[in-house]
Amino acid sequence: MTSTSSSAVTVDVRLRAEEWETELATECVSGLLATPKVLSPVWFYDTEGSQLFDEITRLPEYYPTRAERDLLEAHAVDIVSLTRPTTLVELGSGTSDKTRWLLDAMAATSDRIRYVPFDVSEQTVRDAAAELIRDYEGLQVDAVVGDFHRHLGAIPPGDRRLVCFLGGTIGNLDPSQRSAFLRDVRSITGPGDAVLIGLDLVKDVDTLVRAYDDASGLTAAFNRNALSNLNRRFGADFDPDAFEHLALWNSEEQWIEMHLVSRTDQTVTVDALGITVDFRSYERMRTEISAKFSPGQLSAELSDAGFDILETWTQEPGFRLVLAEPAAAR
Ligand code: SAH
Ligand code: TRP
Repeated sequence: MTSTSSSAVTVDVRLRAEEWETELATECVSGLLATPKVLSPVWFYDTEGSQLFDEITRLPEYYPTRAERDLLEAHAVDIVSLTRPTTLVELGSGTSDKTRWLLDAMAATSDRIRYVPFDVSEQTVRDAAAELIRDYEGLQVDAVVGDFHRHLGAIPPGDRRLVCFLGGTIGNLDPSQRSAFLRDVRSITGPGDAVLIGLDLVKDVDTLVRAYDDASGLTAAFNRNALSNLNRRFGADFDPDAFEHLALWNSEEQWIEMHLVSRTDQTVTVDALGITVDFRSYERMRTEISAKFSPGQLSAELSDAGFDILETWTQEPGFRLVLAEPAAAR
């Protein structure tokens, strides 16, 4: 099948793969040599890791993806009629799966719609764009490959843009990154624009922990795959089985943290980075945080960043969509 003549894709690469990898290598060295050790969550998402994550989203224990999909299915039409966007911008767009509910609602009211996926992974963005223009006649895709902490200025101007940030990815930012991020989003939006954010709510600890430590061990495999990825990329000699997966609720910070825990005293060499790293038995290395929000919390943070809340929708067992507009738009 050929795509229709009016569909088109442009890709604005603000962050070249080589440049990004150099930055990541530097961050990897400092994280492995720090006390306590930390590893960036970006190492989760190589080809194998992305496949594992896709399987995680279908686990009975992992409710966020299902809950968000249900919310978008039920309310995309409301979201679009409240905001009447001509452009849908998606930060950390990944495979753009759930986005289709929003695109469907937009396509039902307009025959000229534009989608701006924004992700660090160029291949992911290109694959998603290719699939979308096959399925949406007349869709214009203007993708941005960049870091949403630095390159939001690359988002093309427009008069009615709906900027969405789904998957609870906002929870993967630490509080200071999160407030800077919300202010950055505010600074690139104006009258007529809106933002839609998906976030996971605080709930009973059991439900939270099981979402990140499922019975089948898939999440454990996903976490350990970060080590296999470092072996492949940098010629490291991690034995992934020598590390245990740990997901715990940090009640002070109100976030789930993922760790890899060394089962023994061991030494790992990372050839291409020229470092040797000692692990003590039981030593933890943090790989991800996933913040959970109390009911009014993100709305308050959005207000502080200069947004007015338009609407919120909540789905069991506690996942929420918040729709807001720049305060000056009123
Ligand atoms: N929104 C999708 C994907 C969530 S996974 C969903 O809900 O299923 C998080 C996505 O954010 C990944 O595709 C990852 O590549 C992207 N990402 C992570 N950090 C990023 C950053 N700093 N800048 C841009 N994209 C980022
Ligand atoms: N953004 C997802 C979340 O915080 C990422 C994720 C899901 C994840 N399961 C995981 C990260 C397990 C590390 C380990 O919900």
